[in-house]
Amino acid sequence: MRINVFTLFPEVFQPYLETSILHRAIQSQLVQVNLHNIRDWATDRHHVTDDEPYGGGGGMVMKPEPIFAAIEGTLGVEPDCPVVLLTPQGRLLDQSIAYELSYQPELALLSGRYEGVDERVRQYLVTDEISIGDYVLSGGELPAMVLIDAVVRLLPGALGDPTGALDDSHASGLLEYPHYTRPSEFRGWGVPEVLTSGDHARVARWRREQALLRTYLRRPDLLASAELSDEDRAYLDKFTQDEAMKDQPTDERK
Ligand code: ADE
Repeated sequence: MRINVFTLFPEVFQPYLETSILHRAIQSQLVQVNLHNIRDWATDRHHVTDDEPYGGGGGMVMKPEPIFAAIEGTLGVEPDCPVVLLTPQGRLLDQSIAYELSYQPELALLSGRYEGVDERVRQYLVTDEISIGDYVLSGGELPAMVLIDAVVRLLPGALGDPTGALDDSHASGLLEYPHYTRPSEFRGWGVPEVLTSGDHARVARWRREQALLRTYLRRPDLLASAELSDEDRAYLDKFTQDEAMKDQPTDERK
């Protein structure tokens, strides 16, 4: 996969791309991330990329010419890959969107700054708009990085453990079960007995139940679209305040 990022601040991507899973994915050529500085495509003497909004009002708007020049100069006129604008007005990023984008051989990501980009960019160049949440950041760089991370870890071979992404929260429409590691007792706080039992079937069942329970307690909205077996449904139906609650780690500090 090739990901082209168009931004005024390419340098902010570098450290994260050189870390951990993304670094490995790039090294092993699962993904190539090309950073393009929009400013390099501004043709005036001062390489200006923003201007005042028509109609007045505060803030600056990113000019269309350098953005069109950068994207068309790199990918051709009418690029044949998705051109994604990161904007709080876009569709909300979730795991199914990350999957959808992970099947693309090439992506263009456009990170805006200031009050936003000239509307003609959105109308005539951009093919998709994605938000990472209902809050406003200072620019689309962190959202682009979030999108890259969410997408690249889904590429086959990106995670050390090939089944690694399967249990992730949201992968199956549920939140993930709780994790524990050594020591088995820490400050007097133990680990659920089942996890040290060596009984893989029991562990698998416990994890599934914990995922169901956690989702029910924290994000019941997700259950409506999660893939649930008859057994899952029976478990959830049975659950009220009983048995299962005792294995939920308590949140002593909340
Ligand atoms: N740019 C600024 N805020 C954003 C958000 N929440 N999502 C995507 N792009 C953004």
